[in-house]
Amino acid sequence: MSENFAYPVGLRLSGRRVVVLGAGQVAQRRLPALIAAGADILLISPSATASVEAMAEAGEVRWERRRYQEGDFEGAWYVLITTDDPEANAAASAEAEARRIWCVRSDDAEAASAWTPATGRSEGVTVAVLTGHDPRRSAAVRDAVVEGLRDGTLAAPRHRARGPRVALVGGGPGDPDLITVRGRRLLAEADVVVADRLGPRDLLDELPPHVEVIDAAKIPYGRFMAQEAINNALIEHAKAGKSVVRLKGGDPFVFGRGMEEAEALAEAGIPCTVVPGISSSISVPGAAGIPVTHRGVAHEFTVVSGHVAPDDPSSLVDWAALARLRGTLVLLMAVEKIGAIAATLVAHGRAADTPVAVVQEGTTPAQRRVDATLATVGERVAAEGVRPPAVVVIGDVVALSSRDHD
Ligand SMILES: C[S@@+](CC[C@H](N)C(=O)[O-])C[C@H]1O[C@@H](n2cnc3c(N)ncnc32)[C@H](O)[C@@H]1O
Repeated sequence: MSENFAYPVGLRLSGRRVVVLGAGQVAQRRLPALIAAGADILLISPSATASVEAMAEAGEVRWERRRYQEGDFEGAWYVLITTDDPEANAAASAEAEARRIWCVRSDDAEAASAWTPATGRSEGVTVAVLTGHDPRRSAAVRDAVVEGLRDGTLAAPRHRARGPRVALVGGGPGDPDLITVRGRRLLAEADVVVADRLGPRDLLDELPPHVEVIDAAKIPYGRFMAQEAINNALIEHAKAGKSVVRLKGGDPFVFGRGMEEAEALAEAGIPCTVVPGISSSISVPGAAGIPVTHRGVAHEFTVVSGHVAPDDPSSLVDWAALARLRGTLVLLMAVEKIGAIAATLVAHGRAADTPVAVVQEGTTPAQRRVDATLATVGERVAAEGVRPPAVVVIGDVVALSSRDHD
């Protein structure tokens, strides 16, 4: 068999002695995985990089500040030789060979009895790649596999039954590229996807034909509230053994009723994973060139729901207090009530000429921005026919960005 063919194996090093000679960049790269494997690590080196020193100080490795001596591998299961002293390396390598201890050498792979693969991890899978003589290629193959597992483009369904489960996935503001890698992978693994109107609907087109896509707005609710009907649909599909994703716009916990769904699932005894998403409250202003904070301009931003009019007794918002803030106000679900909200803010002291931007369908091809002030925003929104979904940004940060968006 070829000299370049290595037999792959997973070493279970927990509590077993591993000796590392040298404490430079190579050792620094290798040590974290040995520590994670629970190895009993003896590090022998007169000096060390700052990171390796920190590992020794944290008690993760035992460091002896000296050079290699014959006999250092007594009791070891595995050794790594990483010094730049060729004579010491050769002597150490000979000791490992004589003691039949597998030995990796960073200076001379040919002289070593073991090779370190390029490794990576994703969701409980360890990927280890060996190419013989081409470490860059090993790293590239490793990256491609790990990346594919993470984002679901490499289909590797789990075959051990996992029981019912639901993932509440934040899909981001609309652009399909703005979902998290974890969210995308869970979508790729789903049997059933319950989706809102908001969020990255384009992602649904990419799903394989066997995936059942349910429009949350169309779930019949009869004697239940719409939200209860959605909760029940999630529970029923999960109990039927399906892998269920509840895909929501933005972040599930920002005006997204995510907690209501998580609670209903918990009550039904169904495990639920929550995957955060990029909230429209930050990303939609950003997509229109508006930072929600800026040094010397705004030291705070406050996200408020505008779905209830300020004078409505059911409102939980202290608009008078918000009017006194100097920073940025971001309003969601406020298109309908923006005139009344702006008037209330002005009545409580916020300057009538405070700049306002309304960004409709942010991050999608239909994105548009309408600029105004607190005095004019009610009229402008009506005149321009702005429709939900839109984010309203109020404050001096609006003036920082160029106005050529609308
Ligand atoms: C029920 S809330 C859900 C918010 C969502 N969970 C989030 O974190 O972005 C819906 C509101 O979010 C805002 N919104 C969501 N996506 C948007 C987008 N692409 N462009 C503008 N506003 C958006 C609008 O104010 C909309 O009325």
